[in-house]
Amino acid sequence: MPDTPRPTGAPFRPSILVTGAAGNLGREVVDRLRAHGAPVRGLVRDQTGPHPGAGQATGDLTDAAAVRAALVGIDTVFLIWPLLDSAPAHDLVAELVAAAPRVVYLSSTAVDDEAARQSDPVVQVHADMEALLRDAGLRPLVLRSDTLASNARGWAQQLRAGDVVSGPDMAPTAVVDERDVADAAVAVLLEQHGQPDDGPYLLTGPEVLSRTDQVALLGAALRRRLRFRAVTTDLARSQMLADGRPERLVEALISASVHRPASHRTTDHIERLTGRPARTFARWAVDRAAEFS
Ligand SMILES: NC(=O)c1ccc[n+]([C@@H]2O[C@H](COP(=O)([O-])OP(=O)(O)OC[C@H]3O[C@@H](n4cnc5c(N)ncnc54)[C@H](OP(=O)(O)O)[C@@H]3O)[C@@H](O)[C@H]2O)c1
Repeated sequence: MPDTPRPTGAPFRPSILVTGAAGNLGREVVDRLRAHGAPVRGLVRDQTGPHPGAGQATGDLTDAAAVRAALVGIDTVFLIWPLLDSAPAHDLVAELVAAAPRVVYLSSTAVDDEAARQSDPVVQVHADMEALLRDAGLRPLVLRSDTLASNARGWAQQLRAGDVVSGPDMAPTAVVDERDVADAAVAVLLEQHGQPDDGPYLLTGPEVLSRTDQVALLGAALRRRLRFRAVTTDLARSQMLADGRPERLVEALISASVHRPASHRTTDHIERLTGRPARTFARWAVDRAAEFS
C-alpha cells in the first residue's frame, strides 16, 4: 500500500480491485464503490457476460499474467476466491505479495479456528486461503460471511415450474443479505468509520433460518404457499449433475449438506461496520420477489 499521507478531511479513495465482480456479491460491492466515487476495477472472466458494467479487467484468477495486469495501480483488493481449491491461488498470492496492496478477504463464518480440518471442502478452502494470505505476510483483513441470501436465486427455476423447492437440506444458519455483506465490505474498503480493527468480522443475518423457513418466507413475499422438500443425497447429487453443475461442485455441496453443522450464532458486526442493523431474509425476499416471477 502506498504510504502517501492522506490529505486531512478528504474522503479515503483507494484504487480498489474486486474479484468475482460479476457474481452475486461482487457486483453489489462494485456498484457501491462506484456510487461512492471510488476508483474501482472489477475482475471478470467474461466482459460480455450478463453484468458487463462490473468489469474493467478480464481474466481468470488462476492466470498470473492477468492478475498482474489487473493489479497495476491498485492499492486495495477485495478478494473473492470462488474456487474449490486453494492450490491454484499460489500464483495469485505471489502477485499480491509483489504488488503489496491492502487485502480484504471474503471468507466464511463456518471456518472453525480450532479445527484441524474443516467440515467440508467449501469451508476448507476458506480456511486455507486465510492461512495462505496470512503466511505470505499480506495481513489480510478477513470478512467471514454467513450463508448468502442470494443463494436462494438458485430456486427461481423450480419456482417457475411449481410451489416446491427440492434439494439437499442444509443445517440452519443466520442467512445474511448480500447487500449487507457488500455494505460492510465497502465500509472496510473505504475505512468509512476509521481504520477497522484486524477482524475477523463475522457477518451474519439477524435470525437463524432453516431451508424450510427460507422457502416459507419467500412464499410470503410472493404470496404463494411454497414448501421445501429435502431429498436424499443420492437424489440431490443426480439432480444437480443433471442440471449441468460440475461434479466437483456437486460433491462439495453434498458434503456441506451432510457435514456442516448448524450455526445459531448471530452477531452485530454488520451494524458495527455499517451503522445499521442487518436486513432480514423476509426483507430480501420482498425486494427480490420480481426475480422469481
Ligand atoms: N454463497 C454463500 O453462501 C457464501 C458464504 C460465505 C462466503 N462465500 C464466498 O462468496 C463468494 C461469492 O459468492 P457469490 O454468491 O457472489 O458467488 P457467484 O455469484 O458464483 O460469483 C462468483 C464469481 O466468481 C467468478 N469466478 C469463478 N471462477 C473464477 C476464476 N477462476 N477466475 C475469475 N473469476 C472467477 C465467476 O465468474 P463467471 O461469472 O465468469 O462464472 C462469478 O462471477 C463465494 O465464491 C464464496 O467464496 C459465499
